[in-house]
Amino acid sequence: MNDVLPEQSARWQFLEGAVRDVLDQYGYQEMRMPLVEQTALFCRSIGEVTDIVEKEMYTWQDRSSEKKAGDLLSLRPEGTASCVRAVIEHGLAFNQQQRVWYQGPMFRRERPQKGRYRQFHQVGVEVFGIDGPDVDAELIMLSARLWKRLGIDGLRLELNSLGTAESRAVYREQLVEYFTGHIDQLDEDSKRRLESNPLRILDSKNPALAEIIAQAPSLPDSLDDESKAHFATLCATLDKAGIAYELNPRLVRGLDYYSRTVFEWKTDKLGAQDAVCSGGRYDGLVEQLGGRPTSAIGFAMGMERLLALMPDALEREQSPQIYMVLVGDSAQQYGVMAAENLRDANFRVQVNAGGGSFKAQFKRADKSGAALALVVGDNEADAGTIVIKDLRNNAEQTTVSLAELNTELMQRLAP
Ligand code: HAM
Repeated sequence: MNDVLPEQSARWQFLEGAVRDVLDQYGYQEMRMPLVEQTALFCRSIGEVTDIVEKEMYTWQDRSSEKKAGDLLSLRPEGTASCVRAVIEHGLAFNQQQRVWYQGPMFRRERPQKGRYRQFHQVGVEVFGIDGPDVDAELIMLSARLWKRLGIDGLRLELNSLGTAESRAVYREQLVEYFTGHIDQLDEDSKRRLESNPLRILDSKNPALAEIIAQAPSLPDSLDDESKAHFATLCATLDKAGIAYELNPRLVRGLDYYSRTVFEWKTDKLGAQDAVCSGGRYDGLVEQLGGRPTSAIGFAMGMERLLALMPDALEREQSPQIYMVLVGDSAQQYGVMAAENLRDANFRVQVNAGGGSFKAQFKRADKSGAALALVVGDNEADAGTIVIKDLRNNAEQTTVSLAELNTELMQRLAP
């Protein structure tokens, strides 16, 4: 779990701003959900036999009251479950479409390493009530636009279709039969999954299993016709939009709620943590959690991973433009009031506080990142003037009257 330090926050803000702008362009609205939910919500949606639910959640029993034992609560390990809970609770998907997004910390007790943290941040995007592949394509185009906006290139898009629940049940049978025939070669994890969730064996990172996984029956062969057509239309739309993708029939995702389209944007630059954005359809989840049958699709991206891939120069302009150097008693109030007037005109002004010699104050001015220093001593305060000094070039300093100040600053700070 990391602190975001002052020198890093401008980058976060740039990322957040870009995300907001792009989502606005597509007509998505923000939602904010609590960080804590009933543990059962995650078990029912993400799945009992997943890494997240089996070993990664921060879970505790809430205090009990006289009437009731304490609930079992968890810090959210992802946002889709909470989002669906909220959408059902507030009737948001009732006879209508919703395009929403959220952002914030998620918690998973994973083994921390570069790009993998126990508190990490996601931007999640979810759409409810739209069945067609047009919206699958929209989500992918939206994410591609965001990569462009963030200056991130070299991401690979992997796509797969998991089919409907019914066609997956058929495939599941085939897998169970196949892997049961190779049970001696399976590791403990996979043996357990053979019973509970055989598709997840395909996702195993154990190199000893690579060979038998490669020979396993292929998912696309068992897809139902409707899922095939849905997927073909999505691929055709992406072709038209000029978005390259790779078909990966082994892409099954680590959460249980998916059906039909699944996708991941991957990078080669972050070692083992290669997924920067992943998601897919979860047409059965709303109903499974107690809502009316509602088709749904979404994705989430890991903000720490995006930050690691963004070029160095991308930052929100945050430093002050002007640093006010004040020496002397009457200079103090005169300078503070001048700074307030400049802020009225939308300049970013940091005023020296805590006194100090000219030399000490100029040192702080340099460190602040400001382009200009305004210098006020008692002489300037008496005369109603102010001294402008350029902190980036060694130009002569100039003295102007307060009346001329705004115009002069506007000229000097023009981009
Ligand atoms: P997920 O694949 O578990 O999916 O996570 C989405 C993204 O979050 C990953 O691609 C990765 O970039 C980032 N991420 C996951 N775990 C960590 C970690 N420990 N440290 C840093 N980054 C991490 C979901 O969470 C689904 N809710 C996505 C979704 C939304 N599907 C449909 N709608």
